[in-house]
Amino acid sequence: MTDIRNIVVLTGAGISAESGLNTFRGPGGLWEGHRVEDICTPEALARNRALVLDFYDQRRAALATVEPNAGHRALARLDREWKGGLLIVTQNVDDLHERAGAKRMLHMHGELMSAFCEHCGHRQRFGGAMLDGTHCGGCGAADTLRPDIVFFGEMPYEMDRIDAALGEADLFVSIGTSGAVYPAAGYVQQARHAGIETLELNLEPSAGSYFFHETRLGPASELVPAWVEEVLGK
Ligand code: OAD
Repeated sequence: MTDIRNIVVLTGAGISAESGLNTFRGPGGLWEGHRVEDICTPEALARNRALVLDFYDQRRAALATVEPNAGHRALARLDREWKGGLLIVTQNVDDLHERAGAKRMLHMHGELMSAFCEHCGHRQRFGGAMLDGTHCGGCGAADTLRPDIVFFGEMPYEMDRIDAALGEADLFVSIGTSGAVYPAAGYVQQARHAGIETLELNLEPSAGSYFFHETRLGPASELVPAWVEEVLGK
């Protein structure tokens, strides 16, 4: 590795797989047996609110039963010890990066443990089950809270901050993502256009592997700690 000062890390469902959370695609994935457009769009929420809320209620309940793994902990260590710039961009709606201790991070696809009111826009922490009934902490309206999740067709969060970090980065690292969903899937191409180094850590080759300077294949719980050790040792 040449002189690295600023790093952008992108994570996907693969980093949380060994904690016991299902990934989306492939056999046994969260999208198996579902059409994404029935679950993860604003139209689905309007059409079949109970189905959508139940899907995310179940995922929120599952999140309460799992813990961060060695991959999350290694990124938290990088955050603590790396003296240069760092932004961990996660597509994950779980909170395992922050529970491991990561601070320099953002959730571009929203958070399971957050809700917002469709009536007044108020955001609040939310740990329960929406199907049990909710009241907005802002306007008090009943059953107007929705999961603070970016649905297909909606704009991901904090795009400006991500673009700015990519613009200053010397290294882009993608961990545990299939490269199927844009704009995240396009960050490697953005990084290549900017002439910076790119590294992929994934269980298997992804749709984007072709774009990376280097792809290392294996479980995140092994690849991420080894890479962090390597970077911090520089
Ligand atoms: P996917 O389920 O599409 O891809 C997960 C990737 O992780 C695959 O390439 C797996 O090979 C890899 N993987 C699985 N286990 C792994 C392990 N132990 N170590 C390392 N890699 C592993 O999930 P994402 O790419 O995160 O969006 O999906 C992107 C977006 O699509 C999600 O954020 C979600 C979904 O629709 C929204 O909900 C808005």
